[in-house]
Amino acid sequence: MTRINRNYLKLPGSYLFSTIGKKVREYEAAHPEKKVIRLGIGDVTQPIAPEIIKALHQAVDEMADEETFRGYAPDLGYEFLRNVIAEKDFKARGCEISAEEIFISDGAKCDCGNIQEIFGMENSIAVQDPVYPVYVDSNVMAGRTGSFDAGRQQYKDVIYMPCTVCNDFAPELPGEVPDLIYLCFPNNPTGAVMKKDRLQEWVDYANEHGSVILYDAAYEAYIHEADVPHSIYECEGARTCAIEFRSFSKTAGFTGLRLGFTVIPRSLVLDGVSVHDLWARRHGTKYNGAPYIIQRAGEAVYSVEGRKQIEKQIGYYMENAGIISEGLKEAGYSVSGGVNAPYIWLKTPDQMTSWEFFDFLLENANVVGTPGSGFGPHGEHYFRLTAFGNRESTIEAIDRIRKL
Ligand code: MLT
Repeated sequence: MTRINRNYLKLPGSYLFSTIGKKVREYEAAHPEKKVIRLGIGDVTQPIAPEIIKALHQAVDEMADEETFRGYAPDLGYEFLRNVIAEKDFKARGCEISAEEIFISDGAKCDCGNIQEIFGMENSIAVQDPVYPVYVDSNVMAGRTGSFDAGRQQYKDVIYMPCTVCNDFAPELPGEVPDLIYLCFPNNPTGAVMKKDRLQEWVDYANEHGSVILYDAAYEAYIHEADVPHSIYECEGARTCAIEFRSFSKTAGFTGLRLGFTVIPRSLVLDGVSVHDLWARRHGTKYNGAPYIIQRAGEAVYSVEGRKQIEKQIGYYMENAGIISEGLKEAGYSVSGGVNAPYIWLKTPDQMTSWEFFDFLLENANVVGTPGSGFGPHGEHYFRLTAFGNRESTIEAIDRIRKL
């Protein structure tokens, strides 16, 4: 008899953002007269920048001509894109990363979810708590996490690293040494960052213990402060212990276009095996590459004009972040994030649970956010709002919350 992968049964019924989406649709169906404002899922609202649209059009035209038509993309990505990334994202910041260490994909979510496949099942994993659900869920599916302890709201074999107001939402080095360490900075959901000296401690720790850091830098473009590293490879020794994930989704509004990349340095060697080669083998077998036209659009993100346009867009979202933070502070909320990240992390009032506050806000202000407990037990009594709305609805949402 055919069996299913029973690890899936250890997961919550649906993915966090699907649960929220369903609740909101039900509310709207019951109250068609209400204008609901969505500041829940971190999805962008501003159109793709003109320079990128121009590159898309050009690439589409190339596909219409036999001379310039492209079929399958190279497994690991087109060189024009890998070269410009190596140059502008890494070399320009003093990081020693070459084009052939960059793997183009259709986004950081898939890469963060899939990367665990190339590591042994016996490896222990550590995650920040609260945490982007993909890291834990993908390891649950693989069978690496043990069963779910409903009392503690944790999987038994996962090392949860609390991120609280006491450590500025950046975890301490764990006492029990994990094999795989997921770090995300600027952080989703808290919006926190880790300064370079602290990140260097993590790199030293990983090298000392033979751990691997899986570093999600999807929100790197939102960093404004000077002493915050944009890449883990700004730290000495990271080439032997770290993999980095990047995304065009939030940097350039590609949540619908889909483009990202993963960096695996040649010097990351485990059990005498090159991790780079393993990922290349996996990529070549299970993936046919991001579409040519999208990779051309990605290249345009690095052009002088393209960069100017996306910086303006990021500035727009960060102004939203300021409006949300300031408005909430004036209304008496305790708020963090929103400075180097497009997420605002607030403490729920009156000891409300995260889901109680979700319902309260939906029903009384018709505003949707994300309950902190959906990101892990230390997210309980917290709530996340995104700065990716448009200006008008962001102002309106904060106005409504203030009036509550
Ligand atoms: C979020 O809201 O956390 C993001 O949209 C998740 C993602 O980028 O997959």
